[in-house]
Amino acid sequence: MIRSDFLGIIEEYESQLKKYGLNLKYKIMLNIDGHLLEWPLAGNHPRGLAFTESRELRWDNKEAGVYYWTGTLSPHQQTINELIVDNLLTKIRFLEKSYHTLDCGMGVLNSAVKAIEAKDRYTRGHSDRVAALSLKIAGTLHEAGLLDREFSNRDIEIAAKLHDIGKIGISELILTKTGALTMPEIQHIRQHPAMGAVILTPLSIFEHLIPAIRHHHERFDGNGYPDGLRGSEIPLISRIISVADTFDALTSNRPYRKAMDPPTALAEIRRVRGTQLDPDIVGAFLSIPDNRFLPLTLSS
Ligand SMILES: [Fe+2]
Repeated sequence: MIRSDFLGIIEEYESQLKKYGLNLKYKIMLNIDGHLLEWPLAGNHPRGLAFTESRELRWDNKEAGVYYWTGTLSPHQQTINELIVDNLLTKIRFLEKSYHTLDCGMGVLNSAVKAIEAKDRYTRGHSDRVAALSLKIAGTLHEAGLLDREFSNRDIEIAAKLHDIGKIGISELILTKTGALTMPEIQHIRQHPAMGAVILTPLSIFEHLIPAIRHHHERFDGNGYPDGLRGSEIPLISRIISVADTFDALTSNRPYRKAMDPPTALAEIRRVRGTQLDPDIVGAFLSIPDNRFLPLTLSS
């Protein structure tokens, strides 16, 4: 939501540049309460382009970011550009408010995640580890040019932290059962992704992340749930979470089995590459340096 608001503001800025015939290359980098936003994205920028001018973006005596540009502008055009950057800044200030709402919502939902994990000692810390690993995978995909960032790191982190929020509606007895699950129990547990989507629906700030949560148990070959999506039909964030979630589950103790050691878990991830898990995302995961030590580094 916030990212799309930001992109909407940028779109309006670009249409103003066009309207006034201002021919310049620019870059905007913002840091609002620790949330980073930039445009154009690093990978989309012409290589070797150096900016000759810059302007600090600030309000209420706070640094909010930097606007860089380069281009040949007459003094009159420069004044116009200053004015439209002022206008841009006013709009960006509204994003701060949205972030505040997002952080409040996240605080409440994080408490809910902790409450779910407290019910089940086997999954304690799971959501934080899945979020940390998902971010590492996303970083590797981005470096390899396989990730078209339509969403921010923050989106990935939030979706990964909340992926199992629907477990709030799943019976504790079933979550912690040590014996084999019956078919009705399996069906019950399998409702948690759809339940998670329902829980988040009233919160408009998370609207864009609902598909990522609903589809985190789809399989690349189409044999997952709840909707049997396959390949690229599955939201990219869900495919990333799926790899992180699988690795963390394999390397954690579960009521029905002991944790696998990391090399065995990595062999299992390789085995399900292309069937359960997206092969490109598994490739990115496997290329993370020292990934066999991940459970130690992520939980520390
Ligand atoms: Fe799940």
